Amino acid sequence: MTAPPLYRLGILGSGRGSNFAAVAEACRRGAIRAEPVVVLSDVEGAYILDRAKEAGVPCRHIAPGRFRTKLDEEAEAAYVAALEGARVDLVVLAGFMRILKGGFLSRFPGKVVNIHPSLLPAFPGLEAWKQALDYGVKLTGCTVHFVDQGIDTGAIIQQRAVPVLDGDTAETLHARIQEAERIIYPESIAALANGEVQVAGRATVRRVVV
Ligand code: GRF
Repeated sequence: MTAPPLYRLGILGSGRGSNFAAVAEACRRGAIRAEPVVVLSDVEGAYILDRAKEAGVPCRHIAPGRFRTKLDEEAEAAYVAALEGARVDLVVLAGFMRILKGGFLSRFPGKVVNIHPSLLPAFPGLEAWKQALDYGVKLTGCTVHFVDQGIDTGAIIQQRAVPVLDGDTAETLHARIQEAERIIYPESIAALANGEVQVAGRATVRRVVV
């Protein structure tokens, strides 16, 4: 019997790409039945593109256009074309610093996921680890969620708690949250690739398919 085809991942990132690296490594060792087929970045020279090249994954910079926080129409069309051209099954946001609008999301319904560095719905938006520290919470963490039109508001797939320790700085806390991210993002993507994640409104349920 031939194995089912691997789930095809399109990754978007703007920065260091540590989540991409964790996902790519999990694919390589067979922990996720998927393969990264394209990496796209809105930032020219972003380290995530170097990591993609090293991993042998096709990658390219696509300029975001004239806006600061989102893609303009032309850029959005170019991202959609690149992802559709690569026949992706899932769009994985890995530190992509642009808001994706309805035009983009409608092309990949229920197929765009993100990782956010807090226990949502607490601390959506930028520098969530710093928000948590400034607020004084004792527990924060990270969240894998589907992307909808809000900011960090989509249905939650998986979360992992990270304690805030006495003496934590923004840097030490962020580093520990990122360690947790590198555990749950591959786990969530593995579950999605296996068809184990079912969504009913805001609720997602993991059912192991046998
Ligand atoms: C991660 O910490 C994630 O929470 C946020 O962006 C950061 C990206 O880091 N969405 P990296 O580029 O994966 O290293």
